[in-house]
Amino acid sequence: MTDRPTSYYLETFGCQMNVLDSQLISGQLRQMGLGEAQDARSADVILFNTCSVRQHAEDKVLSRLGELRHHKRKRPETVIGVVGCMAEREKQGLFMKAPHVDLLCGPGELNQLPELLREVWERHEKVTALAGSLSRRTEVLARAMEYDSLEALDLSRMPGPDESVLQSYIRVQRGCDKFCTYCVVPFTRGAERSRPPDHIVQEARRLAELGCREITLLGQTVNSYVHQEEGQPVRFAKLLERVAAVEGIDRVRFVTSFPADWDDDIFRAMRDTPKLCPYLHIPAQSGSDRVLKRMRRTYTVAEYLTLMDKAREFLPNVSLAGDFIVGFCGETDAEFRETIDLVRRVEYKNIFVFKYSPRPGTAADRNLEDDVSWDVKGERNRELLAVQSEISLRQKNAMIDQTVEILVEGFSKVARRRMAREGADAAEWQPSEQDRGQEVLRDTAGAGAHVRAPRTGQLVGRTPGDQIVVFDGDESQIGAIVATRIESVTPLTLFGRFEHVVSPRRAPRPEPRPLDERNAHAHAHHAGRVTLSVIGGQSGCESHDRA
Ligand code: SAH
Ligand code: SF4
Ligand code: F3S
Repeated sequence: MTDRPTSYYLETFGCQMNVLDSQLISGQLRQMGLGEAQDARSADVILFNTCSVRQHAEDKVLSRLGELRHHKRKRPETVIGVVGCMAEREKQGLFMKAPHVDLLCGPGELNQLPELLREVWERHEKVTALAGSLSRRTEVLARAMEYDSLEALDLSRMPGPDESVLQSYIRVQRGCDKFCTYCVVPFTRGAERSRPPDHIVQEARRLAELGCREITLLGQTVNSYVHQEEGQPVRFAKLLERVAAVEGIDRVRFVTSFPADWDDDIFRAMRDTPKLCPYLHIPAQSGSDRVLKRMRRTYTVAEYLTLMDKAREFLPNVSLAGDFIVGFCGETDAEFRETIDLVRRVEYKNIFVFKYSPRPGTAADRNLEDDVSWDVKGERNRELLAVQSEISLRQKNAMIDQTVEILVEGFSKVARRRMAREGADAAEWQPSEQDRGQEVLRDTAGAGAHVRAPRTGQLVGRTPGDQIVVFDGDESQIGAIVATRIESVTPLTLFGRFEHVVSPRRAPRPEPRPLDERNAHAHAHHAGRVTLSVIGGQSGCESHDRA
């Protein structure tokens, strides 16, 4: 056993909030001097950043933990930690299911993670930091201090040397107060709190300096954002305008919006501010008023449809996305048909469909019967996706011969697979500050920068409306906004031909400093990359249509 841990492995499940939390965790671990290990078994510290939104998400973590039981017996000094929503939901009960776990840390306590790790390593005791524990919910002052150090964690953000910041998330809200009857999030993420607008803008500026062009603002009900500033409320529309005004940021998106809290000022801001992308993720969850009532969603189908119509009036080009739960308690076939009608009527760009999964402790789990069979849920899931697939194909067909602007994110999966086969590692490519004139590429063997012809292959990017476009290009286009002409389509993807560069990629400023100097003095010692295995939440799920 070494005196202190030197390497970590971090695997992320769940929504974008968790992806962002994992970036912050990686930053904390790098500051502690830990480097990223290639796999769990070669790491001194193994962390799972978990999701509880559906049983499937939790099962996956339990099975990953099960695989490590034997490893922990062989190497007892390895620290195994469960952080995030599942730690918060299961609390100490998780030690019963997985006795080889050493550490539990809820999503609202991540600022305590370095301290917890030191404790486990030095004292070999199980440690926990959960919202229910004494560290929080004690008195107002203690909670305010907790909140300040959580803020400091967000502000301490220091992307790792291998982390792309081209498209970045910024949290604008923590928690959720809605308590939809099926949902575990208010129990795992706590009460809704909006972050100070200054902090959000400060993060956006810092990210822009580091090369970020697109920001996605995150909140469970992001449009209900409100923060008191000098006695005046700053609402979401204002916040959007302030973030869009940050120099260097070309695109701003936000997820997820709650239909009942909509404020038309947001439409006006989107209409009048070109940097605000015409993309709205506003989940309906169901097309039946009776089901919505059982879900406690606080709006009717008619109100939801009025909102969608208004969105198209203000923003004729708007792309709409939504979430649906099929097979919720008591959902009849007729009620499900109403959901199909709604999907046909709204004509979303894409939808995320989930089979209802009862969550312990929620109102639905306590008061309603989960009486739709798994098979029926599966059939409804497939049927709804098939309806949407037709709509998506129709919409995409209508885009053939159009020229669209996309922010180029990198090589497509197909291209990366081909490069891996041919021995060229596309992932090693890094934009560098000297690359304005010619391509300077980092030599993966460590021999320093050298000049060579740019790699070519299939690239992928997104339109402001979040449509995915692939086209043949070369790596000098990564990070640029380019115009492509759409030539063919599938329900998921547009295939385009490169036309011209609209705005070349920008080189990041050298010598990045952490946002909050007080909180993050140390620089990254080692590369750290978040290992992604997204299975829940808004960004990834069993059945959706994003690449
Ligand atoms: N705050 C966001 C989404 C949170 S969770 C919102 O309100 O829209 C992401 C999605 O998971 C939800 O929109 C919902 O469709 C789905 N979901 C949440 N709880 C679920 C459950 N118990 N079973 C199945 N799907 C669920
Ligand atoms: Fe909150 Fe969204 Fe969950 Fe409803 S579905 S309780 S709004 S997180
Ligand atoms: Fe938590 Fe996000 Fe899952 S808030 S429960 S990780 S969807």
